[in-house]
Amino acid sequence: MRMFAVMNQKGGVGKTTTAINIAHAVARAGNKVLAIDLDPQGHLAAGLGLLRKQQRGIADVLLDGVDPLTVTVVARESLDLIPAGDRLGEMEHLSKGGAKRGFLLRDSIRDFASQYDYVFVDCPPSSGILGINALLACQEVLIPVSGDFFALQGLSRLMNIFKYIEESLSTRSEKWVVLTRFQERRRLAQDVKNTVMNYFPKHVYKTPIRETVALAECPGFGKTIFEYNAKCNGAQDYADLAKDIIKGKVMH
Ligand SMILES: Nc1ncnc2c1ncn2[C@@H]1O[C@H](COP(=O)(O)OP(=O)(O)OP(=O)(O)O)[C@@H](O)[C@H]1O
Ligand SMILES: [Mg+2]
Repeated sequence: MRMFAVMNQKGGVGKTTTAINIAHAVARAGNKVLAIDLDPQGHLAAGLGLLRKQQRGIADVLLDGVDPLTVTVVARESLDLIPAGDRLGEMEHLSKGGAKRGFLLRDSIRDFASQYDYVFVDCPPSSGILGINALLACQEVLIPVSGDFFALQGLSRLMNIFKYIEESLSTRSEKWVVLTRFQERRRLAQDVKNTVMNYFPKHVYKTPIRETVALAECPGFGKTIFEYNAKCNGAQDYADLAKDIIKGKVMH
């Protein structure tokens, strides 16, 4: 089992788009996959067409200790989903539990997750208690980096957040970057690419995800890119990225 936190404290870089489409791509490649929505915005379930009113989810697992099986829904063939649940926002205000609060996800999901080949956790755009839970539960982190100027600024902050959490909690995860919203012909995109390769040598996945209109449209229909437009660049890129992740193919 490989468990990835899809994480970047910067908003709108493509975390949820990547979590949805990579989860489906890896499932389509013949693996048993679980996607967990750790963002109170609930975008992961919405993008898969599975957001419901008064929904239970990972919130109930973390706050009340309910069995993860009871809040897991079948999303697609070989792809299960644990939605955020209405109360996930309460986690950020949870005061009891001290340092243990950071280990709630790890301790509640480990046994359940072991039946899957891949688990992807979609994180919120913040570095609070939910992000800490993701980082402590996952052995690997998938960091989407978009091809704009502010992405670079956010990167050094992200590195500091990782360093701080990992040093204070004596943990370490393997970090991988995926370039998102990539516009090949822009010089800026090349700058971003070179900079992330310096920050994360041999840990930038080979396939950048190109800026693709269909990727922005498909969540509005509750469809993954493979259901919405299987022939577009975005579908091709996420299918290729799935192979990169499975086989460890990186940029040189
Ligand atoms: N490769 C792409 N091409 C075109 N649009 C994209 C691409 N990737 C993401 N988008 C669009 O960019 C916006 C932000 O993407 P997304 O919601 O995946 O980011 P996020 O990091 O999860 O955001 P948040 O921080 O709010 O959780 C969305 O409207 C999405 O449809
Ligand atoms: Mg998101």
